[in-house]
Amino acid sequence: MYEQVSHSLLNEILDELRPEIRRQNLRHFYTRLGANFYAIHSLFYHLYGHRDDFKEKMIALVEVMANRYIERSDELERLDMAREQDHNWFLSQEWIGMALYADGFAGDLKGVKKRIPYLQDLGINMVHIMPMLVCPQGASDGGYAVSNFRKIDPRIGKLEELEALADYMRKRGMLLTLDVVVNHTSDEHEWAEKAREGEEKYQNYYYIFHDRDVPDMFEETMPEIFPETSPGNFTWDEVMGKWVMTVFNSNQWDLNYSNPRVFIEMVDVILFWANRGVDIVRLDAVAFLWKKVGTICQNEREAHLILQMMKDCCQVTAPGVLFIAEAIVAPSEITKYFGEDAIIAKECEIAYNATFMALLWDAIATKNCNLLNQGILNLPSKLDRATWLNYIRCHDDIGLGFDDSDIERAGYEPFAHRHFLLEYLTGKYEDSDARGQPFGRNEKTGDARISGSLASLVGLEAALEHGDEEATERAIKRILLLHGMIFSFGGIPLLYYGDEIGTLNDCSFLEDENRANDNRWMHRPKIDWNKAERRLHRGTIEQKIFDGLKKQISVRKTIPAFADFNNREQLTVDNEHLFVFLRSHPEGTNGAVLVVANFDDRPQYLDLAILGNRGQFQFSQPQDLVSGEKPSMFKEQLVIPPFRFYWLTDQSALGFV
Ligand code: GLC
Repeated sequence: MYEQVSHSLLNEILDELRPEIRRQNLRHFYTRLGANFYAIHSLFYHLYGHRDDFKEKMIALVEVMANRYIERSDELERLDMAREQDHNWFLSQEWIGMALYADGFAGDLKGVKKRIPYLQDLGINMVHIMPMLVCPQGASDGGYAVSNFRKIDPRIGKLEELEALADYMRKRGMLLTLDVVVNHTSDEHEWAEKAREGEEKYQNYYYIFHDRDVPDMFEETMPEIFPETSPGNFTWDEVMGKWVMTVFNSNQWDLNYSNPRVFIEMVDVILFWANRGVDIVRLDAVAFLWKKVGTICQNEREAHLILQMMKDCCQVTAPGVLFIAEAIVAPSEITKYFGEDAIIAKECEIAYNATFMALLWDAIATKNCNLLNQGILNLPSKLDRATWLNYIRCHDDIGLGFDDSDIERAGYEPFAHRHFLLEYLTGKYEDSDARGQPFGRNEKTGDARISGSLASLVGLEAALEHGDEEATERAIKRILLLHGMIFSFGGIPLLYYGDEIGTLNDCSFLEDENRANDNRWMHRPKIDWNKAERRLHRGTIEQKIFDGLKKQISVRKTIPAFADFNNREQLTVDNEHLFVFLRSHPEGTNGAVLVVANFDDRPQYLDLAILGNRGQFQFSQPQDLVSGEKPSMFKEQLVIPPFRFYWLTDQSALGFV
C-alpha cells in the first residue's frame, strides 16, 4: 500500500541506513519492505509514536530486518520465494507434527538427529523441539524461563548441531519448529541481571515498581496462572529492592512491550532463529503480551498489534517462516490470533486448537458428544490461509476452558460439569479409569486443570495394573479414536512424543526438588527405547498403537479433503454419542469424506438417510478409508462399534479420492 507519510519516512530511513547495509544487494528486501512498511509504520506509530525517540527506533527496527536479511542464506531465501509462490503450502493434509523434548526423546540434539528415521517411519514431517536454550539450573518451567535467547543449553547441544539438524530435516522434507518465548525472560537473563544492578535502561525492559501501588491495582483484575506454586503476579526482588511483574513463575520476568526496544530485540531474536533454518516459530504465551491496569492482561488489542507487527517484520526478512500462536484462551478469543485479515492484518498462520482438545476430553469423559458438538458449532470461523494445530496432549496441562453458555446448551450446569470432568480425569469418579492429577488448583475460584499422559488418561495404566485385557484394548481404541479426530478435523495434527507407543505417567519427577511441585512433569517422559522397540513385535500394545497411527497418517496424507480450506461441515445427527462431519474436496470435486466417531462404549447407529445427498456423496456404499472395510449396516443404519471412527467415502466416488 502506498501512503505518502510512511513512504517519505521510508525514503529518509533508507538514506540513513548504515553504508555497509546500503552496499548490499537488497532487491527482494526492498520490495518486501515497501509492501509491508505502511503497516509496520502505522502499528509502530500507534504504539510508540508519542515517544521522542520514535524515528530512531523505527530506523533501528529497519536495520534489524535488513541485517538479518543480509545474513539469511541463499538456500533459505530460495525457500522463502518458493513458499511465496505456493502460499497455501502449509494447509496441505500432508503435514503431521510431533512435539518433543530433545533430552526426553533422545538425550540431546545429536540423539534427535539419529531418531529422525523413527519419526519418518511413523509419518512425522514436522518436529517441534521444546525449549532447549540456556535456562536456570534449578526450576526453569520446562525451559520456558530463558536466560539467553541465542544460546543452546550445552547439555542439549550446540548451535551448529541445531543447524545441521535443520539442514538434515529440510533435505528430507521435514519442518522444524522452535519456540521463541516472547512474553518473559528468566531472572538470570542478562537484561534482568542488568536491571537488578540498577541500569534503568534494562529496568524499562520489564514492569518494575518501587512500591505496591500499581501492582495492587493490577492484582485486582489479574488472574493467577500458577496459583499453587506462584501466587500473585509480582515478585519482590531483594537485590533491586523492587517489585517485578512475574505472571507465570517468580523467576519469569514479564517483558514490557510498551518499550520499543523490547519489541525490536524480540524481532531480532525471531529472525535469528529463522536464519538458523527454523520453518515455524512457536510464539509462547502470546495472549499475555500487553498489560493494562483494570484488565485481566490477556488478549488485549495491543497484544494483537504486536503480533501483527512481528508478522509484518518477519515477512520482510523471512517470508517463508510461519508463526504458531500459543494462546490457550477462550474459544471466542483464539481465532483472533490468526489476525483480522489474511493480508493486511495477519498475525499467526497457525494456532493451538485448545478448544477442540478440551472438547475431545469432554467426549471421552462423558462418552457423549453433546458438548463437543456444541463447542465446535460455536467455534468462530477462521481466516483463509490460517490453520489449526490440533492436539490431544502436549507438555502442558488440560484446561477446561469451555464457554459456559456452550456447557449450558449441552445440558449441564457449568460448575458441576467442570467438577465432574476433573473428578473423572483424575480417577476420583467411581466409573473412571483415568489416572490424571489435578494441576493448578485455585482455592479461591475452585478451578483446576489436569496433568497426565494420554495413555494413563484413557485407562491404559489402570488396565495394565488390573491385568485387564479388554480394558487394555479399550484404551488402545480410545488412543486411536482421538488421533483419528485430530487427523481429520482440518489443520496440522500435533502428536506428543511417547503417545505413539502408549507411554504412561512418569512420577519420577517427584524425586527432583526442582520439578516436584509441578506435576506437568508426569507427562514429559524420558522415552524408554526398549519399550519403543516392542512396536516391532506383533500384538504388543506398542505395535498396535504405533502401527494404528502410522496407518491413519499414511491414509490422511492421501486424502485431499483433509487439507484445511475451511472445508468442514459439521452435521447434526440424532445420536448424542456420535461426532459427525463432512470434509469436502477443496476444489469442490469428488472425494468428500464423511467422518463418523463413536465415543460410547456401546455400538451406535447412524441413519445415513437423514444426511441427504451431499454433492457426490450418496452414502449408498460407504467404505472406511483407514481399514478398507465396508462398515456393517443394520436396517439401513450404519453401525459404529464402541470407540471406533470411520473415514467414509462413497464407493461410487472412490476412484476420485
Ligand atoms: C506456555 C508454555 C508453558 C509455560 C508458559 C510460561 O504456556 O506452554 O509450558 O509454563 O508458557 O512460559
